[in-house]
Amino acid sequence: MASIHIHLKRFERNLRFLTNLLHAEDRSVMAVSKVFLADQKLIDIINQTDIEYIADSRIENLRKIQTDKPKVMLRIPAISEAKEVVEACDISLNSELKTIEALNQASKLKNKVHKIILMIDIGDLREGIFYQNFELDLVKKIRNLSFIELYGIGTNLTCYGGVIPSKETYEKLIYLKDQIELKFNMTLKVISGGNSSAIQMLKRHELSPFINNLRIGEAFVLGRETAYGYPVEGMADDVFTLKTEIVELKEKPSYPEGELGLDAFGKKVHFIDRGMMKRAICNVGKQDVDPFDLIPPEGVEILGGSSDHLILNITNPHYKLGDHIEFKLTYGSLLRLMTSPYIRRVYEEL
Ligand SMILES: Cc1ncc(COP(=O)(O)O)c(C=O)c1O
Repeated sequence: MASIHIHLKRFERNLRFLTNLLHAEDRSVMAVSKVFLADQKLIDIINQTDIEYIADSRIENLRKIQTDKPKVMLRIPAISEAKEVVEACDISLNSELKTIEALNQASKLKNKVHKIILMIDIGDLREGIFYQNFELDLVKKIRNLSFIELYGIGTNLTCYGGVIPSKETYEKLIYLKDQIELKFNMTLKVISGGNSSAIQMLKRHELSPFINNLRIGEAFVLGRETAYGYPVEGMADDVFTLKTEIVELKEKPSYPEGELGLDAFGKKVHFIDRGMMKRAICNVGKQDVDPFDLIPPEGVEILGGSSDHLILNITNPHYKLGDHIEFKLTYGSLLRLMTSPYIRRVYEEL
């Protein structure tokens, strides 16, 4: 069985490194646990840091997380899930008045105030009220709900539209913050400015002081900011690695022989004849991961795969049958591997 290796100390170092940068500028941190399915061993490490919140997009994950920190639901809740949402978390990100009203009803039954962060779309075109359509009347309506606290406003960038955070883009959010605070004579506790794509601005000290919170997932696990995909100096890119075993290693041509039709997934395939190759098959497949989302070590080239097989071109002469090949991961491969029931999790104490 292929295994995902989780390097606990590297994770802890990444958490502390970035949290220190954020705390140095008085910004709070939501550690996002969805990519590692809120694995409690990693949650326990977050619990030992001074990170303020744990955030996840799935109710199932939020329910099982054991922590004293406030839990935040990242995905816009479905109106039908209101009761489960207020039971599973303390804060949720919202953009629909009807859903907020349903959360209010559900919180009333629990006799517990639920906090919301109102999401504003400042151009990325995923969730949130489009900033140009924002009406202060909505805030008035929310403030009239006895079991909802308008905890803050937030935005999400570089997710759907690929919009890179910038001073000009954030000005749209800050303008609305000022409008709300002025009109209602209130202070919004949290202005949540986005995700790992804001790290470049943070490192250059260009992030507005009004952005007092970031929700960080990818950077903690892959040591990368996500606006440009650059590694963050000082952070590990190998908190998670995949180890697969070579189950077949043979000299074969690079071009299939015979008339070519469709592959196992019904797709037309194209090959370039590169002569003979030393080809390896490893024990992980498309059911677990997209082969091209893996980052191979030197001397290993990914050719493709089928549901149960990863097919490689091996130019490093030292590999032999039964050896393990270790891959670094991208966000997509990490998410899928963690979700596959066929991948064993191994915790490494370094
Ligand atoms: C609303 C929201 N905020 C923050 C994050 C974290 O993003 P990233 O992994 O780029 O830090 C995500 C994605 O997981 C998200 O959906």
